Order: sequence, then C-alpha cells, then structure tokens
Amino acid sequence: MNRRALLAAPLALGALSACDRFATAQPAPPSVPPLKSVAPFPIGSAVMSGQLDDPAWVALARQQVNQLTPEWEMKMEYILQSPGRMTFDAPDRIADVCAAEGVRLHGHALIWYSQGEQAFAGLDGRAFAAAFDRYIAEVAGRYRGKLVSWDVVNEPIAEDGNGLRDSHWSRALGDDGYMIRAFEQARLADPDAVLFLNDYNLENNPAKGATFLRTVERLLKAGAPIGGLGTQSHLDIEIPAGQITTLIRELGAFGLPVHVSELDASLRRERRGDFRSRVQRLEQQQARVVELAEAFMSLPARQRFAFTAWGLRDSDSWLRRDGRDDGKDQPLLFDDAGQAKPLTAAVAGVFGRG
Ligand code: G3I
Repeated sequence: MNRRALLAAPLALGALSACDRFATAQPAPPSVPPLKSVAPFPIGSAVMSGQLDDPAWVALARQQVNQLTPEWEMKMEYILQSPGRMTFDAPDRIADVCAAEGVRLHGHALIWYSQGEQAFAGLDGRAFAAAFDRYIAEVAGRYRGKLVSWDVVNEPIAEDGNGLRDSHWSRALGDDGYMIRAFEQARLADPDAVLFLNDYNLENNPAKGATFLRTVERLLKAGAPIGGLGTQSHLDIEIPAGQITTLIRELGAFGLPVHVSELDASLRRERRGDFRSRVQRLEQQQARVVELAEAFMSLPARQRFAFTAWGLRDSDSWLRRDGRDDGKDQPLLFDDAGQAKPLTAAVAGVFGRG
C-alpha cells in the first residue's frame, strides 16, 4: 500500500494506537560509527568484573572502546578487603580479559585519600612507610606488563581547591611526601607504565584546577616521575563555556599525556530548585561534553592519552547507584539499552575530524 493509500485508508483502532505509539516514540538513535573507529586516540570506559558476564555490555564494549579502567576492584577497598591478605580475583579477571581482547588496561588507583586508613591504622613511622611501599610494589608489580598506566595518586587536591587534602597518607608521609614516594615506588615496580596524577572538578572549579596545576609543577620540580595528568571530567553542565577549554590547554602546557579519565555529565542539579526543561539540560550537557571533546582534540597527538567515560550505558553509571538518583539521569554516552544518543553523534563528529 503506498503512502497516499495508507493515509486515505480508514485507520483501524489498532493502527491508530500504533500511530500514537509512533508519535510518542523516542527519536530513532542516530547512526553513529563506533567511537574507537573514529577517534585518533584510545576510547575508554570504566568496568566492573560483573559486567563481563553481561553479553550486552561486552558487545557494546567490543564495539566502542579499546581501553578499560577498573571502576573499583583494583583499589585498596577491594584488594585489602580481607585483613592480612590481598584479593586479586576480580582485577586479575579484568586484566586477563583486556589481554584476551587486545584492549589497553589503565590501573586505578594505587593511593587515594578515601581508602586504606583502616588497613594502615596502628602503623606509624617506618612501619607505615614500609607498608605503603610494599602495597605499591605488590599491586603495581603484579600488573607490570599487563597495563599501560596507573592513577598513582587520586584526588590529592582539597575539595574547595584551597591547598592539598589532609589524609592518613599526608599525615604519615608529608603533604607532598606521600605523593612523591608513591610515584617513586610505582616507577620502581613498573618502569614502563605511564604514571598519572588524577583529580576531579578541575574544569568545574577553576581554583581547584589552578591548585592542581601548581601541585604538578611542584612535584615535577621535586623529581616525582609523573608521566601523565588525569582530569576526571565529572562535568557540571552549568559551568560557563570556556572553563573546560582553558583547563585542558593548561594541562597540556606541561607537555605530558593528558587523560580524560572519568567522563560523565549528570543532568541532575544538586542545588534546590531546578526549573530547567529536559531539553535545556540536554543542550547544556551536549555543549559541555563537545567542548571537552574539542579541547582534547586540540592537544598535540602525542599528548592525547585516552578519552574515558565513567561507564558505557547510563544505567551503568555510579550516579544511578548513589541513592540520590530518580532513575532518569543520563550522564553517559550510551542510553540504558546501549543505543547511541545525539550526544554520542556529536562527540563522534568531533573525533572524526581527525
Ligand atoms: O558490588 C558490590 C556489592 O556486591 C556489595 O553488596 C556492595 C555493598 O558492599 O558493594 C558493591 O560494590 C560497590 C561498588 O562501587 C559497585 O557498586 C562498592 O561497595 C563501592 O565502594 C564502589 O564504589 C565506587 C567508588 O568509586 C568507590 O570505590 C564506585 O562504583 C565508583 O564509580 C567510584 O568511582 C570514583 C573514582 O574511583 C574516583 N573518582 C570519583 C568516582 C566516583 O565516585
């Protein structure tokens, strides 16, 4: 039946409801080439070992990414979960899958202010330092030759950007001391890995970004073997245009590889009273994520380490698991069904400019 005939024919109720369904259907997902096929650098995602048993997740990961970051199972909270021994089953499985799939593995994270305090409690002075060194030697040594890089120190800058974070690490080994020591120990354990200093809100909060830059400069001058700079890019989609571009350019000025390491762009607003429409929030989200993609593309090729999202599908996002979510947040590059979005097409378009 041709279109004229179709429109003239009396619509059966079923057909009408079918038309209704079409009328309310989501716009068809754009046809987007796999991100890893258009980007002139690795495309990454966070991964949890349980996702390796999800065929849909595996299919999407195989299609889209060529680098993975363990979301939590290569951290102290997992490895030191049992007193007196180290647990490696999940990170080992992730490393084995990366090797089998020919996918790069980025280690995350050796030393983080928010973990390890209980495991290192009761140790002071030399014993603390020895345990610190031993942990890094054990973990970074285990994955030597299996990964390309590490977040050696994660989130060292104070939340408000005013100086460094106080932690059990800094109290025991010094504000800069624990970071320098961590990088030196990681270098000894894995001479080939690119060693990253990684933090968040560097774009969202220019004061924090500035403190991070000053910290990098100071640690490099002190001889810390920092080999790369990670900006997590958990983007606040309401920040002014240009902040992202400025931060990425200033990171690039060190001449080191830059890793967009944990991209997500929540549509939620933590502050009260959000009168933005969904369309407005999606527009803000696309504007900021595209700005990040363009800024990253503007780096010299040798400094574009990888562009990593903190999960593949919206439903994989930690933001859906933090207890504050209404199940409607769409912070990532693929929807709950693993379909590309207009956001995906926009990012692919930027990366495809080669
Ligand atoms: O899967 C287990 C479940 O079996 C168990 O019942 C439950 C309760 O113990 O824990 C579940 O594991 C949780 C895991 O997330 C998966 O949901 C861990 O407890 C929880 O600690 C872990 O949180 C992770 C968090 O870092 C702390 O490691 C998040 O997934 C992860 O997205 C988040 O990632 C951080 C980056 O490392 C650093 N930058 C910020 C980013 C977001 O907070």
